[in-house]
Amino acid sequence: MALFGAALLTGCQQAQQSLSIGDMASAFNREIWVMSIWAIALSVIIFIGVSFALFYTVQKFREDKHDAPPAQFHGNNKLEVWLVAVPVVIVIFLSVLTVRSMAILNPTPDQATKIDVLAKQFWWNFTYPETTADAGGKVANGNELLMPTRQPVALTVTSGDVIHGFWAPNIGGQRAAMPAVQKTWQVDTDRAGVYQGNCSQLCGASHANMRYKVVALEQERYNTVLAAMKAYRAPEPAAGSAEARGLQLFLQGKPETGAASCAGCHRVQGTSAAGQVGPDLSFFGTRRTLGAGMWESEKAQEMLIPWLKHAPRVKPGALMPTYDGSEYMSKGKMLKGGTLTDAEISDIAAYLRSLKLPEEADYWRDVPVIGAASTGGTQ
Ligand code: CUA
Repeated sequence: MALFGAALLTGCQQAQQSLSIGDMASAFNREIWVMSIWAIALSVIIFIGVSFALFYTVQKFREDKHDAPPAQFHGNNKLEVWLVAVPVVIVIFLSVLTVRSMAILNPTPDQATKIDVLAKQFWWNFTYPETTADAGGKVANGNELLMPTRQPVALTVTSGDVIHGFWAPNIGGQRAAMPAVQKTWQVDTDRAGVYQGNCSQLCGASHANMRYKVVALEQERYNTVLAAMKAYRAPEPAAGSAEARGLQLFLQGKPETGAASCAGCHRVQGTSAAGQVGPDLSFFGTRRTLGAGMWESEKAQEMLIPWLKHAPRVKPGALMPTYDGSEYMSKGKMLKGGTLTDAEISDIAAYLRSLKLPEEADYWRDVPVIGAASTGGTQ
């Protein structure tokens, strides 16, 4: 038991914080916890009772001193009724607890903040269906989920390809993301912070690289950020700047070298880029992660150029084409990407980095990263 316990506890290192199913800041987790305590307590009582009865019987009837046959159960109605009734009562009790918890956790109140979650190989899109951007379209963000604290948040989860699993243990629960099926349930947390989210269903080459961040903000701050997202229009780069050249390539690609446009797959709010195949890039410059949580902070900055040059080589199975002319595998086929020069790649990077929310709406600012010292906060 001690060895088994030690093996289990190795996963609980605080800094990893990816297995924080015991985070009591979430009403969802508290409910599950209470239910588990009942089930564990009853199991312990049964274990002690059965052990006691076993040892007692073995001890007491150790040796048959007389050759008389032992007394038989069969026909002892009283004992049989007890042996059936007690387990039935325990099972009914646990069922009632479970049904009660399900009734509390599954429905979502009308006033819950609604967020649509789309899972795809190998990234996430989070759309705010109640917030239409001034520039048109619903406000959306790739791989970084913003939610308010101290209120139920209704997540509607679906998939655009294979089955994925939405799992951010701190805010409660886990749901399969399935194509053509929409599942809604509520999550919540009382504590502002950045939490780790993962894909919990083996879904392909980059299953382990299909992560996201949950940024939980106090209501007022959440409102500020969402209002800024609603009002946001991608900045117009100054003529002749690197950003302007980047925007041009972003929207049109470079057909003469076979380099596909970024806009074919990605949306940027306030521009004509409205692609829905890849993650929403409207607030790319504010985001702290790259490659669906594969890299964070400085590492994400550093990886942007290699990412743009040949995403499938730095992230196995990524469906983005290469832009340095190299071959890559996409859905089982070898393809060859178009070609952009290093200068052009760096122009696109400059444009992407300019896609920033206003300073006061930087949702990473002053948000504690729960259980980790290495990332987030005000870095
Ligand atoms: Cu998506 Cu595993």
